[in-house]
Amino acid sequence: KITASNGKKLQKKKEKIRMCGIIGIASNKFVSTNIINSLKKLEYRGYDSAGLATLDNNIIKEKKCSGRVDQLEKILFKSPASGNLGIGHVRWATHGIPNEVNAHPHSSEIVSVVHNGIIENSNELKIQLEKKGKKFKSQTDTEVITILLSDELKNKEPLDAVYDTLKKLKGSFALGIIFKNFNNIIIGARRGSPLAVGYSKNENYLGSDSYALKSMTNKISYLDDGDICVLTKDSVDFYDAKKNKVNKKVLILSDDKNVANKGDYKNFMSKEIFEQPITARNCINEYIDKSRDEINFYNFPIQPKSINKVVLIGCGTAYHSCLVAKYWFEEFTTLNVEADIASEFRYRNLKFNKDNLYLFVSQSGETADTSAALDLCKKNGVKTCSIVNVVESSIARNSDWVLPIHAGPEIGVASTKAFIGQMLLLYMLCLKIAALRNDIDSQDYQKKIKNLKKLPEILEECLRSEDKIQLVARDFLDSKGSMFLGRGCSFPIALEGALKLKELSYLHAEGYPAGEMKHGPLALIENGLPVIVISPNDKYFHKTISNMQEVIARGGKILLITDSNKNVISENVRFTINLPYIEKSLSPFFSTIPLQLLAYHVALLKKCDIDKPRNLAKSVTVE
Ligand code: G6P
Repeated sequence: KITASNGKKLQKKKEKIRMCGIIGIASNKFVSTNIINSLKKLEYRGYDSAGLATLDNNIIKEKKCSGRVDQLEKILFKSPASGNLGIGHVRWATHGIPNEVNAHPHSSEIVSVVHNGIIENSNELKIQLEKKGKKFKSQTDTEVITILLSDELKNKEPLDAVYDTLKKLKGSFALGIIFKNFNNIIIGARRGSPLAVGYSKNENYLGSDSYALKSMTNKISYLDDGDICVLTKDSVDFYDAKKNKVNKKVLILSDDKNVANKGDYKNFMSKEIFEQPITARNCINEYIDKSRDEINFYNFPIQPKSINKVVLIGCGTAYHSCLVAKYWFEEFTTLNVEADIASEFRYRNLKFNKDNLYLFVSQSGETADTSAALDLCKKNGVKTCSIVNVVESSIARNSDWVLPIHAGPEIGVASTKAFIGQMLLLYMLCLKIAALRNDIDSQDYQKKIKNLKKLPEILEECLRSEDKIQLVARDFLDSKGSMFLGRGCSFPIALEGALKLKELSYLHAEGYPAGEMKHGPLALIENGLPVIVISPNDKYFHKTISNMQEVIARGGKILLITDSNKNVISENVRFTINLPYIEKSLSPFFSTIPLQLLAYHVALLKKCDIDKPRNLAKSVTVE
């Protein structure tokens, strides 16, 4: 506990960390509907509370609620917020209750603020402000900004007041601010957390990413660290950290058709699972010259022959794709390779080497830990490459070399088609590096490319396992938990299968290297426990099957996923999913599909929120 000098005991709170979505619109017409529509798109960043503030005739109208944007929309339906200028926010809280009071915006009489990020010195500032008699309504760090700024505005113009307020703040953040007495401006500020501006006729926008702005404009600019922007409906002015006026490049965004359209699917996740053959086809078309059976990657940041080691970095599902790639790099090249979780990588005492290739994998390209790991590499002067889905993302913009996966927007929080896209790019990159280094013989290289071209149609075949998976899914409803086992590159697939089940159905699931079972986890096996064994036709096949027998002997209920037709399968296997076989190294793509379907169907039976699992967010933009 810490004690404020006014004698009041203040509970020392853990840092309130948030990764939230921000939108701001300055227009010549009412903005609340477009703010709501943009907030719906931003829900992938957080969805535990939402709010907006508009400005009408010098009155700030604030509407907030706990829960999702739908709830906010209902509130607006009953009590509309008029005004041609406004800001909106979706929040994701890890500390402090996601209630109405803590929802953004945080407004005073004269100013309203939305915020993404952390004000690290908010406790100190709060104590100082309380000493001066200021009262706080919420438990957020953001309200400190509202109060400081309201004070600065007593004798300053908005831009100066914002600059002087920011001088007092520590941490990383993005802000959107409107002012009661300046009814035509929105001010945006960026320190650390990304912020974009969008342009349109009689309308300009502020957004925490380009995705929120895409339905309104395809012309955007990004603020750099320390920048502030002043938006009106007709103009946008940018200032750098020293208050010098600066110009920004206007980028034209690519067109994503059918972005937020579920089509005939029940939810985005099922659409995205079934889109995977198309994802693979697009990615292959983008990178493979089919007439020559050649992989086209240009502008390598390092001469492939002089690479010493490949270091793969990511979080969550993206990290699992790194783990799969580790096996491929070891198999096809003479390179040393490491895979690391970004939140670990960024704090380890690493020895950076200019001849290492640091590869960052991220669907969103905004994940805070991956981004920080990338910054660390840049500070150490090493070459970086990113494999992303969102080409306009921070990670893409900050890397020396970018390889987009071309999967199209992924809306379901649990990543599916992006995983297939990430593995595909890593596979092609690995093959290309192997070829350029002469680590792989040219016939084998060509054969692998030929087989790779068949990937989309084989994925389609794998999707046909859905009927059987639907039957298997029932076994999970009454079970205490489940285990996913595999060896070699099926081990990361086991991790991914377990992660999908956890994320979607809230059931305990463990992914394990099959060979490790007898070193502890075997104790968990009891009568009826579902155990998923991934055992393709590779060098580990017989070993994994032996591990499976050990599980069967202890009562485990087996779902075997295999592309082998070797006749060693016990009759005690409850279900077998037989997958097509074209090439050993491609098995991770195929065994992923039934596991995604399994997690999906268990969650469906449990009536879970498939696209927005509890407590999670699509893009984790804080540590
Ligand atoms: C979140 C998402 C996961 C994702 C991970 C990394 O946890 O819910 O689906 O795998 O972030 O995200 P990234 O965008 O960096 O791939």
